[in-house]
Amino acid sequence: MTAASEFPSGFLWGVATASYQVEGAVTEGGRGPSIWDTFSHTPGRTHNGANGDLAVDHYHRYAEDVGLMAELGINAYRFSISWSRILPEGTGRVNDAGIDFYRRLCKELLAAGITPVTTLYHWDLPQALQDRGGWLNRESADWFAEYAGITKEGLGDLIKVWATLNEPWCSAFLGHSSGEHAPGVTNPGQSFVAAHHLLLAHHAAIGAMRSTNPHADDQLGIVLNLIPAWPASDSAEDVFAAASVDATSNTLFTEAVFHGRYPEEVLGYFDRYEVSDLIDTAELSRAVEPIDFLGVNYYNVNHVQHAPGAPEMGSWPGSWEAQITRPPGRLTEMGWGVEPDGLLWMLERIGREHPGVPLYICENGAAYPDEVSPEGTIDDPDRIAYLEGHIEAVQKALERGVDIRGYFVWSLLDNFEWALGYDKRFGIVWVDLETMERTIKASGHWYRNFIADRVAARI
Ligand code: FCB
Repeated sequence: MTAASEFPSGFLWGVATASYQVEGAVTEGGRGPSIWDTFSHTPGRTHNGANGDLAVDHYHRYAEDVGLMAELGINAYRFSISWSRILPEGTGRVNDAGIDFYRRLCKELLAAGITPVTTLYHWDLPQALQDRGGWLNRESADWFAEYAGITKEGLGDLIKVWATLNEPWCSAFLGHSSGEHAPGVTNPGQSFVAAHHLLLAHHAAIGAMRSTNPHADDQLGIVLNLIPAWPASDSAEDVFAAASVDATSNTLFTEAVFHGRYPEEVLGYFDRYEVSDLIDTAELSRAVEPIDFLGVNYYNVNHVQHAPGAPEMGSWPGSWEAQITRPPGRLTEMGWGVEPDGLLWMLERIGREHPGVPLYICENGAAYPDEVSPEGTIDDPDRIAYLEGHIEAVQKALERGVDIRGYFVWSLLDNFEWALGYDKRFGIVWVDLETMERTIKASGHWYRNFIADRVAARI
């Protein structure tokens, strides 16, 4: 593994979480309900009926959690802001207690020498806005810009690194096509309309943040989950099927973010689902705002096979008779492969196709079936191997000239893994779900040792 000096100075070594997955306190501090409250309380939607009512109680334990971060020696914390804490009805009335919670969190972080990095939208749309059509309503872009401006006004003196959306692919396609995520819609055509409005919202929010409470060192961007779609073989059919999945997973979002346009394949999907009239591509091209960084979330590779007659995959509407095959090697608890080469491949691709934009790896990590030993330790060698392999890929990408400024482990804590509930543990800190007690896992100790000299080298 590389020496400390081989990572750029100022490199952010962090951990990440998201509001609904960790905060709990869903009825406290003036918070309004979000689509994830509704979804998780709808029978049959989540594993064992799990919900985020308590989650891992970060809302009350944030100071203790910042203490854990200090113990881990990280220098950055990526968290998301709950829209319905700031604007309980989604627009209009501002809830000062919501702003105040995040001000207290940021002050705690800054006092510990930890840079706050935030995401405005990690999937928890205010329910009041869902009741007005949610992301299927064109006005959602204006609602989001209003929220972005208000939040920047309230927190812009404390936070310098702002992402608009987390993984809009999930909001659009898991939320509106496969229906695995809130709001649970299963309409492939509408999922493209939702994607379009999310992308308009992203640009509008960047514009609003740039002009509100501006600071010279503001960094404004977006976080995409870029999933390599590799053909399962060299056959022309597999290559074509993989390209069709790549379009919905990746280039739909990168082209719209960087250039305000959609790839040809995606325009074809709009036609096929007869939603072209609902998607004003000219408006997207007028809306485009440059970004200061791109956040990349990476977990795994999708290996894609041509499967004639296979039913269309809900998560990749429009793809051509494609099927995701089992990845090689041992899988994580999510059923995902462990392929650090995919991260290197994606980082190099982005560096090549969109040069000049600094990258942060905003999420990377793995769920494994952890257990507490009789001595009270949590030994998770698989997670250590996963993190080590992927950080090595980051190092290689840096050596090959990709401009990477930081790396965030998903996640600081075991937490509410959306529809999969609490069984999938991603934390480098174990959470006892009965007592809420936190214990640093072996991977947390490993991460602390790994970054110790690298963070020190920068100071
Ligand atoms: C990502 C999400 C994050 C978490 C991880 C495992 O897609 O952004 O909230 O669920 O997957």
